[in-house]
Amino acid sequence: MSTGIARFALDGQVAIVTGGGGGLGSAGATALAEAGADVALVARNRIKLEDAARAVEAAGRRALIVEADVADAEAMVAAVEAVEHAFGRVDILFNNAGITDPQTVLDIAPEQFLRILEVNVAGAFHAIRAVARPMIARGYGRIVNMGSILSGRGMANRAAYCASKAGLANLGAACAFEFGAHGITVNTLGATVIVTDLNRELVRTQPALYAKVVERTPLGRLGEIEDLMGALLFLASPAARFVTGQTLFVDGGYTAG
Ligand SMILES: NC(=O)c1ccc[n+]([C@@H]2O[C@H](COP(=O)([O-])OP(=O)(O)OC[C@H]3O[C@@H](n4cnc5c(N)ncnc54)[C@H](OP(=O)(O)O)[C@@H]3O)[C@@H](O)[C@H]2O)c1
Repeated sequence: MSTGIARFALDGQVAIVTGGGGGLGSAGATALAEAGADVALVARNRIKLEDAARAVEAAGRRALIVEADVADAEAMVAAVEAVEHAFGRVDILFNNAGITDPQTVLDIAPEQFLRILEVNVAGAFHAIRAVARPMIARGYGRIVNMGSILSGRGMANRAAYCASKAGLANLGAACAFEFGAHGITVNTLGATVIVTDLNRELVRTQPALYAKVVERTPLGRLGEIEDLMGALLFLASPAARFVTGQTLFVDGGYTAG
């Protein structure tokens, strides 16, 4: 058994990061690579994935780019097969791909509501389904879902996103029961607002809303990408072997009150 900091080491492991070209996904991929994992980056936009792949390689690990829409079940099966073919195994799935579209319940088109659920929840489901068999066969797996403070509470103009992120966290809890006997843990990260391409324009145009978030945050600021990395590495590592079905809020205390 590993001791000391080696409990967190990912040497020889293989991680899949969906949404690997985005702000949190590319940083997560680099962090996993720095801890020792080879990383497969999955998303639709190849250009952003190439930047993320260069960062993984700069950390001394192998990177694989897989262009796929997480909402496409067959494409996710093919993506996992491509990773197994290239790297021979899958130890970690970081279900990070996600979208938002802040609109009221009355304004959002039903098709758009469904698309957000399709990407944020069903996308994770397809990826979990695709990695489950190889993880079960090897008796080991770490699945980390990218939730939100809105996995645990509501907010106006965010009904689709709230429904999706709560659904994602509870999908994780359900999977924890199904896969626990196979050495697979499934957890959710509950991040607060971190400025990325997802919300840059919203943060710029709605300063009062984000000032309120800061005001009720004990640590007194929005999140930064780096804030998430320790929690991601923990949940993705052997050190988290008895933690499953949980949502770990990384939010400066926002959800504490
Ligand atoms: N930033 C925040 O404040 C915050 C807070 C809590 C949770 N989160 C969550 O963190 C995750 C990452 O967000 P981010 O802030 O890094 O946003 P981002 O920079 O916009 O990245 C989103 C990523 O998801 C990918 N993606 C979107 N739809 C996809 C699809 N159908 N298939 C495959 N990939 C898809 C995008 O790539 P392509 O468009 O190329 O496919 C991109 O790589 C999301 O799940 C988000 O909800 C973010």
